[in-house]
Amino acid sequence: MPWYHEKLDSDLEHELKQRKITKGRFLDLGTGPGTQAIQLAKLGFTVTGTDLSVNAIQKAKKLDARINFLVDDILDSKLEKNSFDYILDRGCFHVLSNDKWDSYAKTIHEILDKDGLFFLKCFSIKEETLTYGPYRFSIPDIKNIFGKDFVIDTIIDTVYQGTLDRYPKALFAVMRIK
Ligand SMILES: C[S@@+](CC[C@H](N)C(=O)[O-])C[C@H]1O[C@@H](n2cnc3c(N)ncnc32)[C@H](O)[C@@H]1O
Repeated sequence: MPWYHEKLDSDLEHELKQRKITKGRFLDLGTGPGTQAIQLAKLGFTVTGTDLSVNAIQKAKKLDARINFLVDDILDSKLEKNSFDYILDRGCFHVLSNDKWDSYAKTIHEILDKDGLFFLKCFSIKEETLTYGPYRFSIPDIKNIFGKDFVIDTIIDTVYQGTLDRYPKALFAVMRIK
């Protein structure tokens, strides 16, 4: 898993510190190996980790009993409306095909609390070396997809930390509901 990163994503860590965010209901969407959910639980957040993969959720459940790990497809989600103060997507959105982007944004808008924050990390169009991997987004792409329903606080150029020798170029965006 090239995206496997045991520590909390450093861009998320920076935002949490900067904004003095220390508690609340956090969704780790597309949790995969559950590393981000686990780090967030260690920080004291009430964490739900969801993934399409039954196998991933079965494995993650064994790692930390504090976390509510659930099988859930974000494109047909059973998560309750306004049920999260914070949502992290580190690598799920960028694997979805473009016909799913609007439906994805609509669901995030529904499940996020009106005062909540959405943290999105995805591959960047500036990643030109890697010959495989997910879709690569530009800053205007993110503004087009999410700008209708979300205020985009910040989008920065960054990297996707994981197991590769050179970290792929990524974008990290912080958004709130309009
Ligand atoms: C690149 S991995 C990232 C895993 C994790 N977020 C991390 O940072 O280690 C993407 C994850 O998104 C999940 N995923 C893909 N499509 C999904 C969907 N429609 N709903 C929920 N999860 C999905 C995949 O099963 C996979 O575990």
